[in-house]
Amino acid sequence: MTNTTASTGSAHREGSAPTGPGPHDASGPGAHPGGGGRDPLPAGPQPVPAAADEAPADVIPGAGPSVRPGERATLRLREDGPDEPPRYAPEWLQLREVADAAARAPELVDVLRTRLAGFPGAPGSHGGTVVHDLGCGTGSMGRWLAPRLDGAQHWILHDRDPYLLHFAAVGSPRAAADGSRVSVETRRADVARLTPDALDGASLVTASALLDVLTREEIDTLAAACAAAGCPALLTLSVLGRVELTPADPLDAEITEAFNAHQCRDGLLGPGALAAAGEAFARHGAAVRLEPSPWRLGPDQRELTAQWLRGWVGAAVEQRPELRARADRYLTERLAACAAGELEIVVHHSDLLALPGPAGGAA
Ligand SMILES: C[S@@+](CC[C@H](N)C(=O)[O-])C[C@H]1O[C@@H](n2cnc3c(N)ncnc32)[C@H](O)[C@@H]1O
Repeated sequence: MTNTTASTGSAHREGSAPTGPGPHDASGPGAHPGGGGRDPLPAGPQPVPAAADEAPADVIPGAGPSVRPGERATLRLREDGPDEPPRYAPEWLQLREVADAAARAPELVDVLRTRLAGFPGAPGSHGGTVVHDLGCGTGSMGRWLAPRLDGAQHWILHDRDPYLLHFAAVGSPRAAADGSRVSVETRRADVARLTPDALDGASLVTASALLDVLTREEIDTLAAACAAAGCPALLTLSVLGRVELTPADPLDAEITEAFNAHQCRDGLLGPGALAAAGEAFARHGAAVRLEPSPWRLGPDQRELTAQWLRGWVGAAVEQRPELRARADRYLTERLAACAAGELEIVVHHSDLLALPGPAGGAA
């Protein structure tokens, strides 16, 4: 495990890591505390270099395949061999950040604010609320949530990808809802092996778009660690496996089914992750509340919609190669409708808030 501490990312603006602007909060989320969010897209990270002669990477569950010439990547090509887990492209995480911000359920944040005000927990060495963001990517969750919570906060950003952690530190949130200081530290770690020790002193655990890329055992481990820490967990944007496309096409259902099956490769829970997490937290005595957090994609999000479509259909074809000819026709037509502003898509997600019971939540 590698730890790096920074006060609002300052240490990370120096040194050898990417020098591009990276995601940053600018004047964004803080201007809309408590709202559903129309946060401005952060300035983008530098393009990810990819060797031209490198074979395309696999499709990554939930984020689609790698690129054709001229397309944006949703995942980075592996640099360290086939045994390395696929790595998310910061461009993809940036592209989805506005839709994610608009989708997350503000109702759960209201509950959380009340809970944190009533049970602030012991202030850590940094003072204030200590938040662990698991699978932080480029730090989208912190940029969304920190400006919606009051009081000083120290965010501990966990991810296994050091490249994404760098962007997360550079683009870390600057201030709480009431203007209090927000500091950040990054931790390179496998969240699937989270131990209670890793959450020592935590006031809150968060994650966004993470649960569906975990196995049941990993979700159980996560819930157990949160229960041992006795803190709430806000786990946003888990896919539900339901997609509505308007206008409809006869192939929609088959693509959806194949994509959902692809998400469950290698024992991952995909659309079953939310229910598994709810059960795991409930077993540990937590009160679990769910709220819908759908992406609503339309003419205003053509770039995201097109990239999501390529990934969605690409994963479906990787799962069921016999779909290829029909899926190619389908994708071409869907992309044309998207470009013409004639396609609307609802990708259903759900957010989960788990509040520990009176005894701290342990079963
Ligand atoms: C879909 S991305 C979401 C990133 C970010 N939370 C967001 O909402 O933009 C999933 C993230 O989880 C990280 N991740 C997946 N499995 C992980 C694991 N076992 N340990 C640590 N990080 C993991 C990936 O590297 C990636 O950054």
